[in-house]
Amino acid sequence: MPAQADNVRRADGRVTAPFGRRRGEVVANEPSGGYRIVTARDPSGPMPAAGQFYMLAAERGWGGDGERPFLPRAFSVAEATADGSGARLSFLLEDVGPGTGRLAELEEGEGLLLTGPLGRPFSMPRELNPEAAGAILVGGGIGLAPLAIWRRTLAAQGIAERSLLGFRDQAHAGGLELFRCSEVRLASEDGHAGHRGYVTDLLERMLEGDSAATAAVYACGPPAMLEAVRVLCEERDVPAELAMESPMACGYGACFGCAVPLRAGGYMRLCVDGPVIRADEVETALVEGAGHR
Ligand SMILES: Cc1cc2nc3c(=O)[nH]c(=O)nc-3n(C[C@H](O)[C@H](O)[C@H](O)COP(=O)(O)OP(=O)(O)OC[C@H]3O[C@@H](n4cnc5c(N)ncnc54)[C@H](O)[C@@H]3O)c2cc1C
Ligand code: FES
Repeated sequence: MPAQADNVRRADGRVTAPFGRRRGEVVANEPSGGYRIVTARDPSGPMPAAGQFYMLAAERGWGGDGERPFLPRAFSVAEATADGSGARLSFLLEDVGPGTGRLAELEEGEGLLLTGPLGRPFSMPRELNPEAAGAILVGGGIGLAPLAIWRRTLAAQGIAERSLLGFRDQAHAGGLELFRCSEVRLASEDGHAGHRGYVTDLLERMLEGDSAATAAVYACGPPAMLEAVRVLCEERDVPAELAMESPMACGYGACFGCAVPLRAGGYMRLCVDGPVIRADEVETALVEGAGHR
């Protein structure tokens, strides 16, 4: 990890973003199943913490002449390695609209405008559950992105982790290379890989018996999957963190576009109070306007 990262890591685990937007340079853009992995050098940025995200925009061909997208888009960092005085960052993208479409076609050497790292990262398993024997990671579709860097962080610290990854069908699957060296179980709704059905079927089985008392669950995926994970964990008293999505216009607390209702009343801004939240902070993980299904 570069030296400057320690200077900006706060007590809550966040790495704070340098002021303003900076230019990264794309070093790779590879297909990965139905997704793409875009990697860029961030020459002066700090190393992010797992669960944090960046607001991204292509330097060229982004808006202009009345064309969408106007605003940058939010992406979880999926992999980060130290690179000289900066970082090399990988993002897993699903092309669903003008922003992801433009990012998916970026070529080596093109500029990628970055703001980040932003938001609250994952907590260690023992912080969630003092009895935790390790971590159970549950990912759905493109939601496996933040779990990939979390898996590596845990492995680097010698903390046991098991990953359960689910996909709708083959066209909406990818990123498995980011989980090399991990114990992975797969589920797919169309049966093309692993268990035919939902990834939450695998979680339910894993939480049967004694393992619930020593579990700490981390999930990211479509709202319906996150809600199923939240309910499963609540019923079994298993502490869980959810990396959630909501529509984000700024990414740093200014626009209130990402407000999510809290169980205790009031709202949180998911970009600054999340995107990783404790599952018991919300009544439901079904967030209106969240992109992925
Ligand atoms: C914290 C955070 C982290 C994120 N991390 C990632 C990530 O790692 N990788 C990633 O690809 N995306 C990620 N997203 C989602 C991404 O920011 C949005 O999907 C973004 O709006 C896409 O921009 P766009 O211009 O391509 O499409 P938009 O113009 O924003 O959306 C186009 C239309 O497609 C719909 N849509 C969006 N996603 C889907 C989908 N999956 N399937 C079907 N319809 C959809 C939208 O509701 C909208 O109607 C993240 C979002 C947040 C808030
Ligand atoms: S995205 Fe603007 S306040 Fe959260």
